[in-house]
Amino acid sequence: MVKKLEQMYEGKAKKVFRTENPDLYLVDYKDDATAFNGEKRGTIADKGYYNNQISALLFAELEKAGIPTHMVELTGDREMLVKGLEIIQLEVVVRNIAAGSLAKRLGFEEGRKLPFAVVEFYYKDDSLGDPLVNDSHIAVLGAAQPEELVVLRELGLKINRVLQDIMARAGIELVDFKLEFGKHKGEIILGDEISPDTCRFWDMETGAKLDKDRFRRDLGKVEEAYIEVYQRLQKVLK
Ligand code: TMP
Ligand code: ASP
Repeated sequence: MVKKLEQMYEGKAKKVFRTENPDLYLVDYKDDATAFNGEKRGTIADKGYYNNQISALLFAELEKAGIPTHMVELTGDREMLVKGLEIIQLEVVVRNIAAGSLAKRLGFEEGRKLPFAVVEFYYKDDSLGDPLVNDSHIAVLGAAQPEELVVLRELGLKINRVLQDIMARAGIELVDFKLEFGKHKGEIILGDEISPDTCRFWDMETGAKLDKDRFRRDLGKVEEAYIEVYQRLQKVLK
């Protein structure tokens, strides 16, 4: 049993606690939901449980595919033991289908299939609203070295292929998703979470949204969507 020591950090969706091992932390997933940089707030019943379990299933599959993640093990319903990371201040978004901010920025209809996966970087800074940044912006910000950006892009695309395959088996179209990475003992590894909070998942047959857009856009049946994703993944990953 890992001993939970004092809280180190509380974010919008998670709390992080120290443990007796200075290299390991406990992440506690909350039911709080926010959107539009914290302007919209609410709770999604048991979201913490589902996001923790879904992330654990997906991290385990990524590890099997040779992608290093911060997950050590699941330690509770809403709790995961992770490796401590020096967080890279970029969000890496990978898109297969136009939706959300890409649809708006490029004037594409939501649902238009992109000819190849698009990778984007956003600078993690709430006071700026996490702006889209290009390679030169990242260099002047000092957020990552050029060779690290190459690795982030490659990892983003590889993770996309692994996740697309898993989600397809669950009857789900992987529209887009957001990743966060950090450095652990010099190696770039995947951190944060992979869940309906951070991905767009559309039912392959009906097109129904099975992700946080149900909360962002007040579509109803929010909890049901998270449960649906978890149950389908459990079935195909058994
Ligand atoms: P976007 O279309 O709003 O830019 O979102 C792209 C993807 O990133 C989508 O799957 C949702 C995810 N995302 C987050 O995880 N956190 C965020 O703060 C935002 C804006 C998007
Ligand atoms: N995580 C973001 C926030 O609070 C938004 C989002 O997921 O849409 O504000």
